[in-house]
Amino acid sequence: MKNLIAISGKGGTGKSTLAALLVRRLTAAGVRPVLAVDADPNACLAALLGLEAAGTIGGLREAARPVKDAPGTMPKAAEVELRLNEILVEGEGVDALTMGRPEGPGCYCYVNALLRDGLKRLSTGYAATVIDNQAGMEHLSRLVTAKVDALLVVAEATVPAARAARSILELSQGLPMKIGKRVLVWNKVRGEVGREAAEVVAGLPLEGTIVLPWDERLAELYATGRGLTAEACGGPEIDELLKMCGFMNTTRVR
Ligand SMILES: Nc1ncnc2c1ncn2[C@@H]1O[C@H](COP(=O)(O)OP(=O)(O)OP(=O)(O)O)[C@@H](O)[C@H]1O
Ligand SMILES: [Mg+2]
Repeated sequence: MKNLIAISGKGGTGKSTLAALLVRRLTAAGVRPVLAVDADPNACLAALLGLEAAGTIGGLREAARPVKDAPGTMPKAAEVELRLNEILVEGEGVDALTMGRPEGPGCYCYVNALLRDGLKRLSTGYAATVIDNQAGMEHLSRLVTAKVDALLVVAEATVPAARAARSILELSQGLPMKIGKRVLVWNKVRGEVGREAAEVVAGLPLEGTIVLPWDERLAELYATGRGLTAEACGGPEIDELLKMCGFMNTTRVR
């Protein structure tokens, strides 16, 4: 996958909001098309982008299980890729893919591997891919094995959120996955990040840290279930973050 940004962090820290802000900013700067992958069972990325999810990968899993003795069926990887294309939702410069919840019992290792392969192939057609994850790294490592260009770990400026970010970042070091740049994103910050929280993450091998201030308009959007608007679309820190990750050399165009 080229230009792959993965977002992780404790629950409720603002991962999905950040994913949507990044997608909007990339497309506005002409980095198109972007593939937005919602890898959280509690899907909301498409909605934040003002799109309606047409289906989920979870819904495909059952149907995509290997069929024994079914001569003439399509090779599974190609079938999965085709089905991924069917549930893609198209927006302005962006396509959204929603994982959803797995359905039915049984082992999905085989299908998971196919999905990983399908996603890898699908994403080659995009200028960048942004993956919004569940808290933790396990999910991501099931979805992507080879390489993540930028891992963004989101934390509120509290000691518990900083501890969660630290453990995610430490865990990421032991994964069989090449991670280009690791950035810590302090989010919903009112004033400054306190010394206690900052000390928790001291010494981690980071490309850098970014502070995103508390933004009442973003909180309101969420409360009313709306997607990002021209007014609620983040500040210059989003550009800074993308530049830190090496994704954009352009200046802010809005
Ligand atoms: N910078 C911000 N300023 C104000 N509110 C914010 C900001 N970023 C996110 N929020 C709010 O925080 C809440 C959680 O955001 P979001 O759903 O993006 O978090 P999440 O980490 O994806 O959560 P989950 O772990 O449940 O998936 C939402 O109400 C959202 O509007
Ligand atoms: Mg989320």
